[in-house]
Amino acid sequence: MNTSRDVFQDRMLSLGLARVSEAAALASAKLIGRGDEKAADQAAVDAMRTQLNKLDINGVVVIGEGERDEAPMLFIGEEVGTGEGPGVDIALDPLEGTTLTAKDMPNALAVIAMGPRGSMLHAPDVYMDKLAIGPGYPEGVVSLDMGAAERVNALAEAKGCEPVDITVCILERPRHEALIAEVRSTGAAIRLITDGDVAGVMHCAEAEQTGIDMYMGEGGAPEGVLAAAALKCMGGQIFGRLLFRNDDERGRAAKAGITDLNRVYSRDDMVTQDVIFAATGVTDGSILPGVRREVGYMTAETILMRSKTGSVRRMTYRNPA
Ligand code: FBP
Repeated sequence: MNTSRDVFQDRMLSLGLARVSEAAALASAKLIGRGDEKAADQAAVDAMRTQLNKLDINGVVVIGEGERDEAPMLFIGEEVGTGEGPGVDIALDPLEGTTLTAKDMPNALAVIAMGPRGSMLHAPDVYMDKLAIGPGYPEGVVSLDMGAAERVNALAEAKGCEPVDITVCILERPRHEALIAEVRSTGAAIRLITDGDVAGVMHCAEAEQTGIDMYMGEGGAPEGVLAAAALKCMGGQIFGRLLFRNDDERGRAAKAGITDLNRVYSRDDMVTQDVIFAATGVTDGSILPGVRREVGYMTAETILMRSKTGSVRRMTYRNPA
C-alpha cells in the first residue's frame, strides 16, 4: 500500500533540496580563486552528499559525478537519502564550473534536481549537441536539424526583431569555430562563455535580465539533463542529441540503456515528470550572485523551482562561517 511518505512530495522536499545546493556552494566557495579545481569540486561533493543523505528520500543518483568505477562519491547508481521516503531520481552537479571557481570567473553554480523514480534520462558522460531558447515561443520554432543561421533567423522572426537583435550563448571551444562563424554571418551577437553551460541555458529563460536569447553548441550530456530540468521549471525549450566519438562512448550509451544513438531529445524527453530544481551561486553570475564572505558570515543565494506550479523562489541564506 502506498503511504503519503511514498509519494513524491515536491512541495515539502523542495526546501530540503535548497539546503543541499547551499551546502555545496558554501563549501566550494572557500576555494574560489585558489587555482585548485579538484579541491573545490571535492569540497562541494562532500558537502552535497552529507546534506543529501539527511533527506527522507529513497534516492538514486542518475546524473552524478561519473560511473561507479570512476567516482568514489555521488556516482551514477549511488543510493542517497535516509531510505525513509519516496523513490526519487537525482541529477546533480555539486560544482558546475570547477575551472570558473578555481579562477574566480562568473557563473559557477551548485546544482541539483529531483523527480519521481524513472523521470530523468540516464545520460551517459558523453557530449551532447544542445539548442535552447526561453519561454513564449511556438514549439519547435528552432530545431537541431536547422543550421545555425537558420535558427537565428527563425528566432528573430518569432521575436519580432532583426537577427542583429539576437544574442546567442556559445561555449568558447575550437570545436565551435564554424558554428561561431555562421552565427556571426547573421549579424547576431555572441556571448562566449569559457565553461558552465547549465547557466548558459538557464540564461535563455530570463532573457530580459541576462540578454541571452538562445544557447547552442556541444557540451556535457549530464549538464544537458540538468538544464532540461531547469527549463521544465522556468519554461523554455531545449533539444539535445548525444554525440559519440568512439566505441567506449557508445558502450556508455549501451550501459545506460540507450539504443537509438541519433535520437533528438526534447526537454520533456529528458525530464518526463514534474521535478524540483535548486541552484546556488558559487561565483557571481547573471542568474545568481556568488557566495559572499564577510568576517564571521557567509551568504549564499539559491534559486529553487518546482515545475508542477512554475514557482520560482529566490532565497538568501546567511550562515555563521
Ligand atoms: P566542469 O564543472 O565539470 O568543469 O564542467 C564545466 C563544463 O563547462 C560544462 O558546463 C560543459 O557542459 C562542459 O564542461 C563542456 O566540456 P568541455 O570542457 O570538454 O568542452
